[in-house]
Amino acid sequence: MESTPIIMVERGIPDSQHRAAAEIYHQAFSQKLNILLGNQEQAIACIRDHLSPSHAFCGLREGQIVGLLGFHHNHQQLVNIGAGVLFKRFGFWGGLWRALWGSMLSRQPAKDELLLDGVAVDPKVRGGGIGTRLFDAVKIFAKQHAYDSIRLEVVNTNPRAQKLYERLGFTAEKTQSVPFMRRFGFTAVTTMRFRL
Ligand SMILES: CC(C)(COP(=O)(O)OP(=O)(O)OC[C@H]1O[C@@H](n2cnc3c(N)ncnc32)[C@H](O)[C@@H]1OP(=O)(O)O)[C@@H](O)C(=O)NCCC(=O)NCCS
Repeated sequence: MESTPIIMVERGIPDSQHRAAAEIYHQAFSQKLNILLGNQEQAIACIRDHLSPSHAFCGLREGQIVGLLGFHHNHQQLVNIGAGVLFKRFGFWGGLWRALWGSMLSRQPAKDELLLDGVAVDPKVRGGGIGTRLFDAVKIFAKQHAYDSIRLEVVNTNPRAQKLYERLGFTAEKTQSVPFMRRFGFTAVTTMRFRL
């Protein structure tokens, strides 16, 4: 009889898994990332090159990454692609419009809150509890670092994810209408918070 592979959740992303982590992250947010970071291959390479692995918890199955949850901490986040990177990769005009859209999509944490920077699970294993375990890990991390709350944002085209966050104890604080974001695949963003 085959045994079920064990999923390990740990902080950081092993060196051998950076590319796979970028692929999983890209797959989850591809509509937005393909506009901002070029075609799929360019986008995945850019994410991989600008990952801060210590700003994530990851789920590993037999050493292979199957999910990750990124967060902001000490002025860094999981994927750090600022205007400088965009100008360097896409030239002045290509960098300029990307940087402007990027600034509208990016968020900064307020004092005492842990802001999440994307959660993504390999489509082959979604619904198997890995997302929940990643959240369990980040809640412990946030407590250990004396944060008051954990904040995330969820778009209106992702009601399943919002349902999961509610089940995990997050409450919706406000919903902002952003019709100009339609090209990125959503028209409203809900801020949700977990109080520690
Ligand atoms: C959201 C996500 C991280 C959850 O991870 P997971 O390992 O599938 O989650 P769990 O197994 O712990 O919990 C299952 C719940 O997650 C949600 N979920 C499951 N599949 C999902 C999917 N494809 N997209 C969004 N949410 C999903 C549902 O609420 C589900 O509960 P249900 O089966 O009762 O409907 C994962 O599904 C995913 O990567 N989705 C695509 C990317 C994404 O939406 N990221 C969040 C952006 S805010």
